[in-house]
Amino acid sequence: MTDKQITELTIRRPDDWHLHLRDGAMLQAVLPETARHFGRAIIMPNLVPPVVTGDQATAYRNRIMAALPRDMTFTPLMTLYLTENTDPDDVAAAHAAGIATAVKLYPAGATTNSASGVTDFEKVRPVLDRMAKIGMPLCVHGEVTNHEIDIFDREAVFIDKILRPLRKKVPDLRIIMEHVTTQDAVDYVRDTPKNLGATITTHHLIINRNHILAGGIKPHFYCLPVAKREAHRVALVQAAISGDKRFFLGTDSAPHTDPLKLQACGCAGIFTAPNTMSCLAEVFEAASALPKLEAFASLNGPRFYGLEPNEATITLTKGDPVAYPSYVPTADGPVTVFDPGFDLHWSVTSN
Ligand code: DOR
Ligand code: ZN
Repeated sequence: MTDKQITELTIRRPDDWHLHLRDGAMLQAVLPETARHFGRAIIMPNLVPPVVTGDQATAYRNRIMAALPRDMTFTPLMTLYLTENTDPDDVAAAHAAGIATAVKLYPAGATTNSASGVTDFEKVRPVLDRMAKIGMPLCVHGEVTNHEIDIFDREAVFIDKILRPLRKKVPDLRIIMEHVTTQDAVDYVRDTPKNLGATITTHHLIINRNHILAGGIKPHFYCLPVAKREAHRVALVQAAISGDKRFFLGTDSAPHTDPLKLQACGCAGIFTAPNTMSCLAEVFEAASALPKLEAFASLNGPRFYGLEPNEATITLTKGDPVAYPSYVPTADGPVTVFDPGFDLHWSVTSN
């Protein structure tokens, strides 16, 4: 059967291996958008203040579960925000207790709420060594922050200047290069036989930098790492549809209210939680790769994290264009939903 003839696809319930849920009113509004289709998600710790300790992660997880509508099931997998003061014992204890699944590394100043991130990587060596020992993975925002480095080069420079040396020093550490945006990152992951995986977002499979900048600036397409030129987008699609177990879905769905996006200095982040699975079905169908969607969205991620895939399934059904709301209202203001720029024909049913 060709992809054009496939009109229904049942896959294991997907997981999101990189998600921003925020807190308070925003959490309340956006959590159902993820829980509707996803079984689990790796929850980013870049709150203000950040989620640094095991106790803070426990408290945040409790707030997430309290915000979950009664008729939904969803498992948040918590992360700890790595600072130069992080205590290796606290990290190890949170991991052993099942509170923290991974640690998140933000180079200081790389993105939204990353001021407490890492400047001197030697200072976090004891934590990384300990994580390698206990088998706890590190999620990495892979961009350098030096002002002299062009923003479109920051991922490639991070790989050469930070990641390669770091992997030499701590080869047993399992690392996830998050939201990869370049051919360079795809090649690096492919050439690395062990202990390295990568997440790819929905929006980086769909937009390139022209979408942000050509014909007027589009703040709703602005995120970090910023989308690159078309050849890089194509490389990401090739990686996603390849079935290579090292590549899996991490949406980086990152809600900001419209007033915070639409200002002279707008926030980075694209909110894809509501329509991600419909968008991905279009991308995989266009690449004649629908049968590979399950590996990317539902199988490769749990495998990398040493977890079982979800038991439940979802069904994607092709039909007339599916209408998603253009925004999700929150008590803090509206949050615009990602507009892929094409009709979405695949509806999602949870089984
Ligand atoms: O676009 C982004 N938004 N990239 C990030 O790394 C952070 C995120 C956020 O928290 O808004
Ligand atoms: Zn993120």
